Amino acid sequence: MIADLLLAVSGVSKHFLGLRAVDDVSLSVRKGEIVSIIGPNGAGKTTFFNLLTGQLVPTSGEVRLRGERINQLAPHDRARLGMGRTFQIAKPLIALNALENVMIGAFMRHRALGTARDKAMAVLEKVGLAHHARVRAGDLTLSERRRLEVARALALEPEIVLLDEVMAGLNQSEVGQAIELLQGLHAEGLTFLIIEHNLKVVRAFSDRVVVLDRGRLIAEGTADQILSSPEVVKAYLGDGHQAAELGNL
Ligand SMILES: Nc1ncnc2c1ncn2[C@@H]1O[C@H](COP(=O)(O)OP(=O)(O)OP(=O)(O)O)[C@@H](O)[C@H]1O
Ligand SMILES: [Mg+2]
Repeated sequence: MIADLLLAVSGVSKHFLGLRAVDDVSLSVRKGEIVSIIGPNGAGKTTFFNLLTGQLVPTSGEVRLRGERINQLAPHDRARLGMGRTFQIAKPLIALNALENVMIGAFMRHRALGTARDKAMAVLEKVGLAHHARVRAGDLTLSERRRLEVARALALEPEIVLLDEVMAGLNQSEVGQAIELLQGLHAEGLTFLIIEHNLKVVRAFSDRVVVLDRGRLIAEGTADQILSSPEVVKAYLGDGHQAAELGNL
C-alpha cells in the first residue's frame, strides 16, 4: 500500500438500469495531491463523485478513505471522516445568510453556537466572503455563491475536498481568483479531487489528470501527457482533430 494513500477507489461501477454511468473505475489519491477528472458531458464524472461522497451507493466496487471501507456509509458519516464537496448545482439555503449557511457545516465539528459561529466566520474570511456574512445566499453573485459552496465544504474541516465544476460560468478574472484561493488551501495541506471543464485550470492546478469517457477511465497522467493523448482528443472532439485544438477549450 502507498504510505500516504488517502483515497482508494477500486473497481467501482454504478448502473442505472441498462446504463453503465460509471464502469469499473479505480483511482488512488495521495495526501496533498491535486487530481483532476475531465471528460465529455455525460461521461460519469458527477456520478463518480456521488459514489465517493455517499449520495449514491456503488453497484459494485469499493471506496476506502485512509484504509477504511466507506462505500456503505451515509454522506454525513463520510463528511465526518474527512470528505468535503461542492455540488455542480449549488444547493445553498437561499433564505439563510452566508454565515448561517457555513455554520450548518461547522456544527458537525462544534456543538456550541459561539464556537460554530467563530469557525464559520473564519472560513468566510478565508474564502473572501467575510464582508458578505449577513447577506442572504440568494442575493450573492454567481462567483460569490461558488465561494460559499467552497466555504460550506471547508466548514466540515475536511482532509480532501471534491469540487464539481466550481469554475463554470465564472469570468477570467474570477477564475484567476478562484485558482489563487484553491492554491492557498492546497498550501495549507488540503487534498483536492476536482471535476473541471476549463482545461487552462486543469493545466494550472493539477498534479495528475484522469479522463472518464462513457463511464470508463480511459487515461491517466500529467496534464501535458493527457492533453496530448490522441485517445483523449478523440473522446473530446471526435475523429480527425489534433491535440493542439484542446488548448482552445
Ligand atoms: N440518477 C440517475 N438516473 C439515471 N441516469 C443517471 C442518473 N444520474 C446520472 N445519470 C446518467 O449517467 C450518465 C453520467 O452522468 P453524470 O452526471 O455523472 O455525467 P458528467 O460527466 O458529470 O456530465 P457533465 O459534464 O454534463 O456534468 C449520464 O448519461 C446521465 O444521464
Ligand atoms: Mg457533472
